[in-house]
Amino acid sequence: MTSGELRKKYLEFFESKGHKVIPSASLIPENDPSVLFTTAGMHPLVPYLLGEKHPSGNRLTDVQKCIRTGDIDEVGDAFHHTFFEMLGNWSLGDYFKKEAIEYSFEFLTSKEWLGLDKNRLAVSVFVGDNDAPFDDEAFEEWKNLGIPEKRIAKLPKKNNWWGPAGETGPCGPDTEMFYWVGDPENIPESFNDDNSQWLEIWNDVFMQYNKTADGKFVPLTQQNVDTGMGLERTLAVMNELDDNYKTELFWPIIQKIENLSSKKYGGENIKAMRIIADHLKAATFILGDEKGIAPSNTGQGYVLRRLIRRAVRYGKQLGLKSFSKQISEVVVLMYKDVYPELFKNQKFIFENLEQEEKRFEKTLENGLKEFERGVDPFTLFTSYGFPIELTKELAKEKGLEIDEDKFNEELKKHQELSRTSSAGMFKGGLSDAGEETKKLHTATHLLRQALEIVLGEKIMQKGSNINSERLRFDFGFGRKMTDEEKQKVEDLVNQKISEKLPMQKIIMKKEEAEKTGAVHTFGDKYGDEVSIYFVGDSIETAWSKEFCGGPHVENIGILGKFKILKEEAVSQGVRRIKAILE
Ligand code: SER
Repeated sequence: MTSGELRKKYLEFFESKGHKVIPSASLIPENDPSVLFTTAGMHPLVPYLLGEKHPSGNRLTDVQKCIRTGDIDEVGDAFHHTFFEMLGNWSLGDYFKKEAIEYSFEFLTSKEWLGLDKNRLAVSVFVGDNDAPFDDEAFEEWKNLGIPEKRIAKLPKKNNWWGPAGETGPCGPDTEMFYWVGDPENIPESFNDDNSQWLEIWNDVFMQYNKTADGKFVPLTQQNVDTGMGLERTLAVMNELDDNYKTELFWPIIQKIENLSSKKYGGENIKAMRIIADHLKAATFILGDEKGIAPSNTGQGYVLRRLIRRAVRYGKQLGLKSFSKQISEVVVLMYKDVYPELFKNQKFIFENLEQEEKRFEKTLENGLKEFERGVDPFTLFTSYGFPIELTKELAKEKGLEIDEDKFNEELKKHQELSRTSSAGMFKGGLSDAGEETKKLHTATHLLRQALEIVLGEKIMQKGSNINSERLRFDFGFGRKMTDEEKQKVEDLVNQKISEKLPMQKIIMKKEEAEKTGAVHTFGDKYGDEVSIYFVGDSIETAWSKEFCGGPHVENIGILGKFKILKEEAVSQGVRRIKAILE
């Protein structure tokens, strides 16, 4: 089975069950300060999981591109990646456990669909604790479908619970599906979570609780289903491969690395080749995203920088030099039909990869000088990105000894520290859709419209980031704004707020929606039906109208006083405004 067939089958199956196909959202989350990247298919759907009405209805399905850096240490094995695609289906307050499990089972085992061997299937369900009871509904459903009890593990929150991402919010038990990828003649009777040959391929989350600030789990009125199936893993399973890198989603990249390095994918080369393939694929997708990001020292740009540099470092082990562009070219070609943004942005992708690789070469060179001056291996690692293997090689050439035990000790301390400090950043899930965030989101719409009026040209959003304290809005504009212009924008927004206009939502066919003149974010993909938020009494007379998923306040009169803190450049032709509501 090809990846194209698998994506198509999945979407077709859920369409046949009344779901609407929606496009993959950008890898860069909008208006969500809780994560750097879209880490799961549910991410762009957060407002709808919290009760907002989705323009395509309450049964949705899609293939979402995702980046997960939490698993970065595991990249190098056969089944973990930083970039992956997630097949998903959602019920927004529609069907619940019984149907969700039936759909999963039918899709996996029916001859008409994946036709996987039922005897190689195992599942896990939530065992229950003080917060929530044992998920007997899921357990009984699997039993009814013929999964033997020994193959249904009852596991605690650590395994079978999803969300909330922060301290509070929607969450619930999940049920995970595993497929035996070991010897088909020797399938263990019982499922054992510790055996990695039971490969997790799908997760059905039942969002039925809201975790409140006092630590209680209160049943939700809208019960949702959020499922996620790993495309790469399932493709490996479908082709009886014991390694995702041998599927067509990776193999052309591995072959390119083999060619460039004149080394074979095997033995001690495997880990480096996997890391290079994984990281440069992820880097290509981040650079080539609709909201393309460049390497930098903060936020998403920093993760991108780490991915590229890590790939280059492992490239060195294989004797590769100036190779990132050539690998990325393969990725663009492989994915250009499914993700046309890669092809469209290829110049930007390649230029940035080449530049970053050069910059890193320079850093390595400087590191080399430091090494010759006698700097210790740990500083070389943290400040110059020298892997211990590289330092060892250099030391050997010079006939020097290095203290590896000391290095490992320091490394362990360092990793613990950086894990603690980044844990908050990489957690996936529901963001805090609190009242302040909502107000700032509405203020962002007012700001964009006011900019358009004051500056006298079409203002396109290039990025938006909101937390409970401030909004940050990036837009295309060629020069610095004058103080007078900033004042005018501020005054205009405050004048509108004082008019106490309603903020309303309307759902329309995409073609009709485009005719209303509502603005949309450049490069974003939309489904057949879209929602528009507008300020005013009707869409025809609206003062501001934008394609947007919400959420927003109902009347802009409650926003308070709008204040611009800062206007600055982000890059050539892109400006950034930070503003607050007082
Ligand atoms: N959100 C769940 C996950 O990421 C299911 O999609 O596993």
